[in-house]
This record gives sequence, structure tokens and C-alpha cells, in this order.
Amino acid sequence: MSVASIKLPTIQVPPHPQWPDLTPDEVAALKNKISAQLQAQDAVLVAHYYTDANLQSLAEETGGCVADSLEMARFGAAQDAQTLVVCGVRFMGETAKILNPEKRVIMPDLNATCSLDEGCPAEQFSAFCDAHPEHRVVVYANTSAEVKARSDWVVTSGIALPIVKYLAQRGEKILWAPDRHLGSYVQRVTGAEMIFWPGSCVVHEEFKSVALERTRRLHPDAAVLVHPESPQNVIDQADVVGSTTALIKAVAEMDNQEFIVATDGGIFYKMQQMAPNKVLIEAPTAGEGATCVSCAHCPWMGMNSLQNLSEVLESDSNEIHIDSAVRERAVVPIQRMLDFAAEHGIGMQNKGNA
Ligand code: 13P
Ligand code: SF4
Repeated sequence: MSVASIKLPTIQVPPHPQWPDLTPDEVAALKNKISAQLQAQDAVLVAHYYTDANLQSLAEETGGCVADSLEMARFGAAQDAQTLVVCGVRFMGETAKILNPEKRVIMPDLNATCSLDEGCPAEQFSAFCDAHPEHRVVVYANTSAEVKARSDWVVTSGIALPIVKYLAQRGEKILWAPDRHLGSYVQRVTGAEMIFWPGSCVVHEEFKSVALERTRRLHPDAAVLVHPESPQNVIDQADVVGSTTALIKAVAEMDNQEFIVATDGGIFYKMQQMAPNKVLIEAPTAGEGATCVSCAHCPWMGMNSLQNLSEVLESDSNEIHIDSAVRERAVVPIQRMLDFAAEHGIGMQNKGNA
């Protein structure tokens, strides 16, 4: 099976969920209710930077974490709490369950998936791997438990470069899946010999280079921050390319006063918190006149809200379950990533606060 023969499934991108507006008093009341629910259920929130700002602040206020996908995995595994409430997308909940099989892992909405995960069906992926037995299989965390179970290494954007560099230095050839933009970025930086599954993120693929050039001309002193799931001609214009954590750190640490940010707009909550006086500009999506399917907001991340979080804690539903045979295989490459991170001190300084 060659790369050219891979037929990607059509991704059904859902409309952006429209949550009823809450007054500040309603937000405060709902947060109080959820805090009490979390305490009563020995539960902790593990939220991604792309989720609603109210969820991020609630996670911070209740001793949970707000982080990138690497730190979310690590944080969940280090908790004593019996329940992990993962606010993010499905693969994040599955990773938490794979690492913590004895814990209850729940999510506000189990339909919150990811175009990368959807675009890499396990059976087809396995056939691709079978056709390239001489390659090490490195998969991005944004995949199903079954795809992880077929891999040698799992990586996130925060650790992909050092792991692939390490493998390349050992002379390994790499089969990379599913994000072709991140994969080709990793190849350009490390020089590794790689073949790619042709998946992409519907959110980051919308960032367009010509419109970005125009925005840069309007803000010549702004630093350009780009998540590596974006296309190469957007990455090529970046001052900083990195994981969500790396982009937040850049805003906090760089001297620039303005930043053009090419990633999901949910990240602005933490960026503003870390650097309240800096100006954040959304990188343009899809160019003028085009139909934007994502508009820099992941529709699946948007499925998490205070409202459905409270409901799920009330109804005791939406628990993640993973087949035990799949889990036993999937935990190996995930743990390999976490061990590598610990050994090389990667991301250890973040502790969920960028
Ligand atoms: P990070 O691991 O950088 O947070 O990325 C996760 C993700 O889904 C980006 O789209
Ligand atoms: Fe997946 Fe893209 Fe959403 Fe991240 S932003 S969860 S990669 S669809």
C-alpha cells in the first residue's frame, strides 16, 4: 500500500456549537456548582488551552490543569483523584484512560473528536504499516487508541522533534501519521527519512499564506507564532513554531508587543493571562471571501462548556472505556513518550501553566 493509494475518509465537520450566553452571575453560580460536584466525586479537571475560557479558569481555580496534550497526559497520570474530567477532544480522554485504567475518565461530550483522528481509520492505517515493515511507526497523539496500539512511538507537538531526531540518529526510517503538515515540518527540521499518512487538521489548514503576508505588512513589528499543524507556507513565515505551550511561552518571554497567532483562538485566554499588556492578533483564516470551515476555532473543542460539564457530573455519564487488549498495546508507545520526556526534561517546567 503506497501513500498515493490511501483514500482518506470524508471528514464531517460539525457546526460550531452555540452555547447560550451566561451572565457573570450565572457563570459564577455554575462554577460553584461544578466545584462542589468535583469535590464530592473526588474528581479533577484536565483542560486543553483551546477550550472555553470559563473552563480553563475553572480548572485553574479547582486545582486541575490547563495544558497542551503532553502535559495533560502527564498531569492526569500524576493525580490521586479517582476521576479525571477531560475537557478537550476524545483522544485526550482516551490517553488519560489508557494511562489510568483504574480511574474513571469522563468528558463533557464524547462526540468531541478531531479531524486527524477521524482521518486515520485503524484498519487502513494498519495495512499501511504492514506495507512498510522496515519503518518505525510514529503517531501523533491526535489518534484513536487502536492507531496508537499499532505504533512504536506516540508523540505530541511538544516532543515530536526530539523523538524523531533521536530515532533518525539511530538510523531509523519513520512512518509518520496522521498530520502531514506537522510530519513534513519535523522532517525539514530533523532531516529524518520519513513517509507520511496524508491527514490534516481542518482548523490549522485554514491559515493561508497570502493573507498572512498582508497581516504582517500591517503589523511589521509583530512576531508570528504558528502551530506546526499549519501548512508549510504559513510555517515558513513564523518567528516561532511550536506546541501550544511553546507559543504561550513566546508571548510571555519575547520582547515584541504584538503577536500574530496562527492556532485556535482558545489559546488567547492563557496568552492574555501570561502577558496582559501584549496585543494578540488572530492570523487570517482562508483568505478574503473564502468559506471558512473552522475560523480558527476547533468545532470539537467547542463542544466543551460549563453547561455540559455540569450535566455530565450530575448524570454520571460519558465515561471513556477502552478495550483491554487495545489498552495494553497502546500504553507502551505512550509511556515510551512520557519516559523520554522525563529522561530529557522536556516540558517538565510547564506543569500546566505554559
Ligand atoms: P498541543 O499538544 O500543542 O496542545 O496540540 C494539540 C492540538 O490538537 C493542536 O491542534
Ligand atoms: Fe484536532 Fe485540529 Fe481540533 Fe487540534 S485543532 S483537536 S488537531 S481538529
